[in-house]
Amino acid sequence: MKKIIFDTDIGVDDAFALACAARTQQILGITTVFGNVAVGQAVKNARLFSQLIGCNAPVFRGCSRPLALSPSASATTVHGGDGLGDVLDNPFDEEAGNAVSFIIDTVRALPHEVTLVAIGPLTNIAAAINLAPDIIPLVKELVMMGGAFGTNGHAGNVTPHSEFNIWKDPHAADQVFSSALPVTVLPLDVTHEVLITGDEIRALNMPVLEQISRGYLQYSLAREGFEGMALHDTLTILWLTHPELFVTVSAPVRVVTEGITLGQTLHKVSPLASRFDPYADCRAQTLCLGVEAEKVKAAFLAILQR
Ligand code: BDR
Ligand code: CA
Repeated sequence: MKKIIFDTDIGVDDAFALACAARTQQILGITTVFGNVAVGQAVKNARLFSQLIGCNAPVFRGCSRPLALSPSASATTVHGGDGLGDVLDNPFDEEAGNAVSFIIDTVRALPHEVTLVAIGPLTNIAAAINLAPDIIPLVKELVMMGGAFGTNGHAGNVTPHSEFNIWKDPHAADQVFSSALPVTVLPLDVTHEVLITGDEIRALNMPVLEQISRGYLQYSLAREGFEGMALHDTLTILWLTHPELFVTVSAPVRVVTEGITLGQTLHKVSPLASRFDPYADCRAQTLCLGVEAEKVKAAFLAILQR
């Protein structure tokens, strides 16, 4: 069991990830960020969903917009207007303590012990390391869901080249990947390989997961003819519990911050020296590009059936 800070723009698949994290990790705090929903809604969702699954971790409010870009629309088509499928009454308040300060203070208080798990735009993480660069060598690791590197055609979900979490704040992502933070990336290359069906969700015996995913499943059925969803964010937690089920590549990563490929994640594949090397000062990060999908799904189902 690792000590984690769970950083989320909590929508439907984030909630699945939180349910898994609550059963397998020590959650020091939940920090929220804009993304699937506005940050205030993310605070409300984190509080409500935590209560529903019996998780007592404190909730903090983080960044409400990207570092440099203008804010873009939330992901309400997939996750519902409230981010959790529009099926629950939510009486909770959207005000909360400062997420970026919480990250900084917690990492300083527990040097080399804290794993950051980020499953939304990387804005809170970038803000924390910009404000307090001294925490960079003190973070145990950052495990994040986002990006796409083209394996088996998995290149983007919000544009043909870009994945949602990175595209929402490409400047933050580029700063984080090019910093000295050790990052493990769970991109679409693996998350699009691990799909759960409506029948499997209904068999979980966790009615709240069935309720919040109903709209997502209908959307997926109408759009793709498949009543199911990618586990996406949950793969960060399954990486923590079952790293042997992933195939990794070690390479520096950068993010495109302008133009038609805005938000595209790139990794250095050639060892040849080049005259201009945009990766020159970047450490190698760990990219999960292969996955034993059926075994990962079985591990997920086992965690939630405990
Ligand atoms: C990511 O985008 C969000 O909508 C999901 O919650 C996940 O974090 C997948 O691209
Ligand atoms: Ca998310």
